[in-house]
Amino acid sequence: MSDDKKNSGDGINRRELLSLGAAAGLAAGAGAGASPPAAAQSAASFPTLPIAALGDLEPGAELSFEYPDENAPCVLLRLDGPVEGGVGPDQSIVAYSMLCTHKGCPVAYHADQKMLICPCHWSSFDPAKRGRMIIGQASQSLPQITLRVEAGMIEAVGIDGLIYGRHTNIL
Ligand code: FES
Repeated sequence: MSDDKKNSGDGINRRELLSLGAAAGLAAGAGAGASPPAAAQSAASFPTLPIAALGDLEPGAELSFEYPDENAPCVLLRLDGPVEGGVGPDQSIVAYSMLCTHKGCPVAYHADQKMLICPCHWSSFDPAKRGRMIIGQASQSLPQITLRVEAGMIEAVGIDGLIYGRHTNIL
């Protein structure tokens, strides 16, 4: 038996112990340096994006945009009446990431069903209920874009939920 094995007393020699310790330190360091999860990102880290003038959005309006960057398609909807998380004079304006939380296919709004529906495996998300999945393969709601009205403009200022395929919303 080597001196190292004698010193540790448990079959692991000193060199192995030092190697394990270094690996654990590296793993901890990597964790500390990684980007924070989306939930931990403060609202201040999101850009402010003007999307449309409030006066231009009739009930039933649908508008595509990208947020928080050009690789993140979203849709803004003016629904028939007040809904959870809605903004505007009648709290009817909402916006969502268009990337399905199942496998990332782009959802489309079906006004006749009042649902955002994924064409790949038919998951349906309710825009009047914070993007909650109603039926389908997905297991999470669609990320909802946080909106505000500022000087007559509807602006995106954050995201509630993680965009499909990302470990953090701000890349
Ligand atoms: S990718 Fe949307 S349901 Fe599968």
